[in-house]
Amino acid sequence: MPDAGRLPRYPFAFRGDQLAPELAASVVHRPIQRVRTNTGTDAWLVTGHELVRSVLRDRRFSLTLTSDPWMPRQDPLIPPLSVTDIRTQCENAGLLQDLFQGVGPHQRYLTPGRVREIADGLLDTFLAGEQPGDLMDGFIMPLSRALTMELLGLDPEGCPDNAEIFNIFRTGPESMQGVPESWNLALTWMLGRLPGLRASGAGLLGRLITLSDASGVLSEEEVADLFVFLLISQFGNPATFLGAATVGLMQHPEVTARLRKDPGLLPRAVDELLRWTVFLGDALPRNAREDVLLDGVLVREGDLVLVSTDAANRDPRVFPDPHRLDIDREPGPHLRFSDGRHRCPGGPVSRMQAAETLRVLLGRTADLRLAVPADEIEWHRYYAVTLPVAVPVNWTLPGAATPGTGDGKPRGAAVPRPDGGTLTP
Ligand code: HEM
Repeated sequence: MPDAGRLPRYPFAFRGDQLAPELAASVVHRPIQRVRTNTGTDAWLVTGHELVRSVLRDRRFSLTLTSDPWMPRQDPLIPPLSVTDIRTQCENAGLLQDLFQGVGPHQRYLTPGRVREIADGLLDTFLAGEQPGDLMDGFIMPLSRALTMELLGLDPEGCPDNAEIFNIFRTGPESMQGVPESWNLALTWMLGRLPGLRASGAGLLGRLITLSDASGVLSEEEVADLFVFLLISQFGNPATFLGAATVGLMQHPEVTARLRKDPGLLPRAVDELLRWTVFLGDALPRNAREDVLLDGVLVREGDLVLVSTDAANRDPRVFPDPHRLDIDREPGPHLRFSDGRHRCPGGPVSRMQAAETLRVLLGRTADLRLAVPADEIEWHRYYAVTLPVAVPVNWTLPGAATPGTGDGKPRGAAVPRPDGGTLTP
């Protein structure tokens, strides 16, 4: 073990299209190692697939304890603490089954056809704009925002802007300044939406508020906190994944060519992109409830354990040639949606959104390419997710001889709202 004064600082990097070399090395040589976190405290970083999965499945490693102010932490402790363990909260309030159904494979709130329709409408504007255009600002962000409002049943009027919502993902030393304000802004807005959701019963949140009112377990503010968590999960996570996935795809033109020719490969390609992209700007935290021997290392009661599912997804013992994006790979047990008790319920609906979005994006372009070298893409630093700041792209339309030219400034696009109006991203 390195001496405590020289512990490596974690997180190592923030790119969504490349695993940090330190993580790649650690998977193979040191699947459990000591690191120093954003708060300056020390933690166990776990990277090997088998070990990561065993920690996530082991109830001796607790997510709930991570909101205990006395525990060592990855990032500053930021309220509201009620959303630390959403699963237990939803269980207690009788919401869990409907939450899982509402984002599961048979959910009824957002159809594949509707995803394609909204994506198509946005691309009408984006692809008519000048090149290069910013795929994040002009397509992925407004799309994810519109899909979120539709799935959750929210009237978007007055919703905080994208920057404000994504500010909630900030980690590291400066998060204490910005995150509580952004959360409170979203919370105040959400509190104002609750009467409308009660009256309309629309979308997933309309269903959940009816159940919550019936059980009476959660206060009005706890309901709004839960709904803000679902808002950022459905908006932020799919947008982050699509950002990293499109950056990755554009570095593999042979893959996009195959997907254009055979869109039936898309669900499998999405699964491989979920494995291959790097999603977390930090790690999934747990605190040990008791002393546990992990791969021969004694983890003491209370110790902080940081689980890197990104590293586990590149473990060569489970995914041969792990850094290769290979859509012919047999779907394997990747951990993009975590595992164990806190496995993310949103996997099915996120896969569907991604597959339908890529179907439309690839179908509407004959060619889509990064307008800058991949190494020049800027990624937000100290965010819990690996979000590109911008993804400048050029494209060729089907049937067009040469790509259009412009003044070189990326363009955004107007967002169609479910009610037929438009929002500015
Ligand atoms: C590409 C999209 C998504 C990814 C990669 C993703 C990933 C994750 C991860 C890694 C966790 C943490 C689990 C842990 O601590 O072990 C999580 C938790 C969670 N996610 Fe997602 N997520 C995505 C989309 C969604 C969507 C669309 C929803 C629902 C609207 C959602 C709802 C949740 C909930 C409720 C939790 C808390 C689970 C718990 O604590 O038991 N996620 N997600």
